[in-house]
Amino acid sequence: MSQLPLHLVILGASGDLTARKLVPSLFRLWVKKRLPDQLKVVGVSRTALGIEGFRARMADAVKQFAAKEWSENAWNEFAQRIFYAQGDAAADGGLENLKAFLAQSEGPSGIGNRLFYFSVMPELYAPILARLDAAGLTTGAPVSGESPWRRIVIEKPFGKDLESARILNKAISHYLREDQIYRIDHYLAKETVQNVMVFRFANTLFEPLWNHNYIDHVQITVAESVTVGNRGDYYDRAGVLRDMFQNHLLQILAVTAMEAPARYTADLLRNEKVKALDAVTVFDDAKARKYLATGQYRGYSGEKGVVNGSRTPTYAALRLQIDNWRWRGVPFYLRSGKGLKSRASEILIQFRCPPHLMFPLPQGTELQCNRLAICIQPQEGIHLNFQTKVPDQEKMVLDPVDMEFSYKKAFSGLSIPESYERLLLDALLGDASLFMRSDEIERSWAVMDPFIRASENPELAMPETYEVGSVGPTSADNLIKESGHEWIGLYADRTS
Ligand code: BG6
Repeated sequence: MSQLPLHLVILGASGDLTARKLVPSLFRLWVKKRLPDQLKVVGVSRTALGIEGFRARMADAVKQFAAKEWSENAWNEFAQRIFYAQGDAAADGGLENLKAFLAQSEGPSGIGNRLFYFSVMPELYAPILARLDAAGLTTGAPVSGESPWRRIVIEKPFGKDLESARILNKAISHYLREDQIYRIDHYLAKETVQNVMVFRFANTLFEPLWNHNYIDHVQITVAESVTVGNRGDYYDRAGVLRDMFQNHLLQILAVTAMEAPARYTADLLRNEKVKALDAVTVFDDAKARKYLATGQYRGYSGEKGVVNGSRTPTYAALRLQIDNWRWRGVPFYLRSGKGLKSRASEILIQFRCPPHLMFPLPQGTELQCNRLAICIQPQEGIHLNFQTKVPDQEKMVLDPVDMEFSYKKAFSGLSIPESYERLLLDALLGDASLFMRSDEIERSWAVMDPFIRASENPELAMPETYEVGSVGPTSADNLIKESGHEWIGLYADRTS
């Protein structure tokens, strides 16, 4: 790691993300002694705070959001690395304070590495980048990977459809090379999502079965119990398809469906994900309508910031297909929603049934064929469900049981870190494996656009209302039933 001065500049430092995620994650990394020694964090925003004001605000945030790691002493040391340069990064002359700070901090050589974190509204990404470029703050990076480097981290949403994402990619690429751009999808940074790759590619057992010969279908669920809260204004323009599917659910699908990269490097990994996404059929509008069910929780249109009578879906279920050798004929069902019964994310692999069953089953019952549940959160783990003989019965009786791996039990003493810890550290270290490349983002929009058009078509029915705390709209059940399947209850619900 280079010993040059290193600055993490947070643009939009007075916002919620900085207080809730970024600075608490940096603090945790610092407590774990994982941050480069020379790192300085510089907050930039319009609010008149001053260094001490910003530090005090961040101290409150860390006390609240990294409560477990908080200690006055640790904070006092860490706070010495935090600075503030007031300014409107999108306005004329708004970066003067930052420029002066960096000039002073990087010393007479003026050479240092810089990571700019865009924690601002998406419409400001391109204008702020133009200002940074004009101020010479993002220029001066010689060749990929070499010091001094300049990188930017961009939050989602990245565009609102394929066209806008293309325009944004083009605007950004005017100033920076692809290897300098780190687009966030925090789902990829979840330990359990990365573990899908380890599970598949560091074990011999499952990969030979991981295809259409043995897998009947796949269900991917990301259920949230929270409602839109105070994000109504953003959410009503996004809806669940943009907010969750285009990014998080398709990323989960990609790591579930992709081929094994030759090595675990950013580009090889992303090449494989893009290939998997490329094989997902982009449906025409009629097919997308057929394969989509939407819902809206009761009371949504009364939420702050939501347009009265809004047709924005807060729940969606859809069916996708992957047209390649491995997955031909295996439906992928995806569902996600807010205001649901529980918070649980899960990948469910339903294997095919054995070709012949020699054991008699009680009348009217069916064999529950092998299932693999990869629980992403909150009960992180993996469960393999298989048939066993129930002991000491008059006749042969079969019953499905679980072979269980639980993160908490297997790694007691280690906790699952916040995704932003991984992402911030990787961006500082220059590992883009868990960040989105432009082609991935664009392909994901291409897949989702027909569904989004269907959900926004005013001539089609409104999303079905479902109760807060329920399992979602019945149209989602009908969607999967029409294909001869049914939703398999979430592991979190089955065991609670
Ligand atoms: C965000 C969405 O990307 O992910 C939110 O904008 C959603 O609407 C959140 O609540 C879910 O993330 P997690 O990590 O809590 O599952």
